[in-house]
Amino acid sequence: MYELIRPFLFLLDPERAHRITIRLMHGLAGMPFLFRLLRSLYDTEDKPVKAFGLSFSNPVGLGAGYDKDALGFRGLAALGMGHIEIGTVTPRPQTGNPKPRIFRLPSNQALINRMGFPGRGIDFVKRQMEGKKPENLVLGVNIGKNQETPNQEAAKDYLTLLRGFAGLADYIAVNVSSPNTIGLRRLQARDMLEGLLRVMVKERDRLVKHLEKPLPLLVKLAPDLDDRELDDALEASLIAGVEGVIATNTTVERGNLQSPLAGEEGGLSGKPLSERSTEMIRKITYRTAGELPIIGVGGIMSPADALEKLDAGACLVQVYTGLVYQGPGLIKRIIEAC
Ligand code: FNR
Repeated sequence: MYELIRPFLFLLDPERAHRITIRLMHGLAGMPFLFRLLRSLYDTEDKPVKAFGLSFSNPVGLGAGYDKDALGFRGLAALGMGHIEIGTVTPRPQTGNPKPRIFRLPSNQALINRMGFPGRGIDFVKRQMEGKKPENLVLGVNIGKNQETPNQEAAKDYLTLLRGFAGLADYIAVNVSSPNTIGLRRLQARDMLEGLLRVMVKERDRLVKHLEKPLPLLVKLAPDLDDRELDDALEASLIAGVEGVIATNTTVERGNLQSPLAGEEGGLSGKPLSERSTEMIRKITYRTAGELPIIGVGGIMSPADALEKLDAGACLVQVYTGLVYQGPGLIKRIIEAC
């Protein structure tokens, strides 16, 4: 079915196509009959996973960046994923980078994006999340600083977001790895990261005393860290006491892509990222002796790609670009293969 729809979607500008699908998903939540019909099409047997103190109905989730403003998650839940990561959300609304800022590279089954966290900000997203949550769906919120906030003041932005979403999110993903906000990835450096995560863990511990639930903190890492930088980031994460990592975000490396769009600035996702991100998962598993549970993401285009990430040590996986090329049936196929 998706193979019939994809050529039409691919005629549209990628950001426009994305906006349309989010609108459809938003509308779907208000149409219980259609929702149930779709839900039954994508229904699978539960494959429960316990991680970070949370229970997931299956190991497959939707990566951050797809439902930035929490407009689509209630409809997206019909596609059967066990978790959805909303965001990246920033404290204040911002427009992001000038358009065009998403590029398709179909011959490589890849995307390049330089969105730069466009979004309507924390207050808007909180309003979308209030109310009934879809059954059996774990909701993460991925948080990041505003573009104009200097790194020295980044903790203030992250704390505002943590406090704002504590009551609504099941987990919080600390995004320090998007390549499209200048200087953001420097927050992965040892001292910066340890300082940031320590204050966040402390604040989280204070907040959960008043909430009757855990609120795991995960750090999302870039695939472009060298071995020393990765060791530093992992040590900072372990010392600060976060519950897990998400590996990985998009890469600024291009390898030997043939596409004429390969030179576009931004983060590369999809098939060419797959091996790099799996390798990163393998290293994290080895270097932390499995102490930090991992959500594996990057270039999952087939069930085999997902199984590779789970074999490398991830306990959950996320998809994004794979959905654009393979359609929503990919989620069901992965769950069934697990
Ligand atoms: C992303 N990704 C992303 N990640 C993040 O932490 N915050 C974000 O706002 C975004 N935004 C975003 C937009 C677009 C258009 C894409 C393609 C990706 C990264 C995403 O969550 C994931 O980590 C990577 O894309 C790698 O996975 P895939 O796409 O290869 O499955």
